[in-house]
Amino acid sequence: MIQTLKQWLTGYTEDTKPKDEDRLHALKKGPIPRHVAVIMDGNGRWAKKRGLPRIAGHREGMKTVREIVRAADDLGIQSLTLYSFSTENWKRPKEEVEYLMKLPEEFLKTDLEDLKRRNVRVKMLGQEEDLPPHTQRAMRTFQEETKENTGLTLNLALNYGSRTEIVMALKRIIEDVETGKMDKDEVDEQTVDRYLYTAGQPDPDLIIRTSGEIRISNFMLWQLAYSELWFTEVAWPDFNRELFYQAIMDYQQRSRRYGAV
Ligand code: FPP
Repeated sequence: MIQTLKQWLTGYTEDTKPKDEDRLHALKKGPIPRHVAVIMDGNGRWAKKRGLPRIAGHREGMKTVREIVRAADDLGIQSLTLYSFSTENWKRPKEEVEYLMKLPEEFLKTDLEDLKRRNVRVKMLGQEEDLPPHTQRAMRTFQEETKENTGLTLNLALNYGSRTEIVMALKRIIEDVETGKMDKDEVDEQTVDRYLYTAGQPDPDLIIRTSGEIRISNFMLWQLAYSELWFTEVAWPDFNRELFYQAIMDYQQRSRRYGAV
């Protein structure tokens, strides 16, 4: 029988390919990361390769966002963080920034109902006050409409920079020490955790970056102390549930020692 390239690569035929429920079931037998954080990279290159404007890559990337949120929810992951716009991304061309700033509203329109049905709580990580009013409104609505939900926490890192996050935390800690709310000697690692945007959430167990770059780009520098890192050459618009499962499977093979032997 002639095999398709995909069958040859995966070793599966349509008859033997595990169904999604079987794969989910198998994955759930191993340790599921409590928090997965993703640097969604490669939208621009994906578009350029196809002779399309960069924003076409972001539009396609939104479909991947939807697919990965659903996959994370199906796996029972507690927190999923998506690096959607960094504090450095303001340097991009005006039209691209404007387009990216419209995506939260777009996502609200298309996905709020599904996210509510799935009991997903949406949170924003980043400096809200610098976002255009329409983006702030969308993020507030998202957070307000989902605040009672108890399932997956979906963190959208928007106007996010890890160094800014740490500086903001430091300022608030200093203020609380100066106003007598807290003693300087009480300040420890847990205190810092409580002042970060991610307060109350576990540190990421797994950080995924797409599109071949092997760097962290000012993302969760405090929280990643013991994270496992997983990189793929695949650009974000081509990333999918299968590859997400692959990352989780690889994570399950890692031996996490936290500095012990
Ligand atoms: C990096 O690719 C991607 C971004 C800066 C934006 C990613 C945003 C989304 C996929 C959608 C966000 C979703 C919501 C709901 C707000 P790049 O443009 O840097 O790619 P390149 O390195 O190939 O140029």
